[in-house]
Amino acid sequence: MENRKFDYAVLKEIQEHWSPRAYDSSRIVSEEDLMAILEAARYAPSCFNEQPWRYIVARTEEEKRKYLPILNAYNAAWASKAPVLLLILAKQNFSHNGKQNRFHQFDAGTSWGFLLLEAQRRGIITHAMGGFNVEAARKIYLIPDDMTIIAAVAVGYYGDIDQLDPQFKEAEHPSPRLSIDEIMYKY
Ligand SMILES: Cc1cc2nc3c(=O)[nH]c(=O)nc-3n(C[C@H](O)[C@H](O)[C@H](O)COP(=O)(O)O)c2cc1C
Repeated sequence: MENRKFDYAVLKEIQEHWSPRAYDSSRIVSEEDLMAILEAARYAPSCFNEQPWRYIVARTEEEKRKYLPILNAYNAAWASKAPVLLLILAKQNFSHNGKQNRFHQFDAGTSWGFLLLEAQRRGIITHAMGGFNVEAARKIYLIPDDMTIIAAVAVGYYGDIDQLDPQFKEAEHPSPRLSIDEIMYKY
């Protein structure tokens, strides 16, 4: 696969995951698959086992109508074809003592990582998006101030690249990564 060169044998799902935009709007994600990827998300480890992650799930026409206005125009142009859209939130404070949990976003990131791997295993593609209006999301979903709104995610099946809006075609391939030497500090 373009831009994917593995020097070490890692999970197939890690090797295969990338962030496509050519979603198949005609193929729904089954209840079983959707619940299974959320099951994977819920089993992530977290500081104090707080499990600060929360997922808003939009999949019916009505839910998607409510969700789509939060995306910026660039993302809405391709992500509106995805059968499921998620919004990842995280609780800022610990439940046991109300103190600030400085790992809440870190833990929610781990949870999304678990979710994407289980989705990938099931042949389901996922693409995270930071391009959305956080304040609009807060208003539309009445999200309290002690919840961080982290990222939007499109979930579904790969479609036909020829149906993809021309503005996205050039970027429709996996992106490269830094080498181990570049990410590993030695002292
Ligand atoms: C937190 C986060 C925010 C992102 N925001 C956007 C976005 O708004 N729009 C978009 O098209 N892709 C977005 N991406 C996708 C990244 O650009 C993509 O993961 C990265 O370029 C690596 O590409 P690859 O996974 O296809 O190899 C986002 C990814 C993450 C993890």
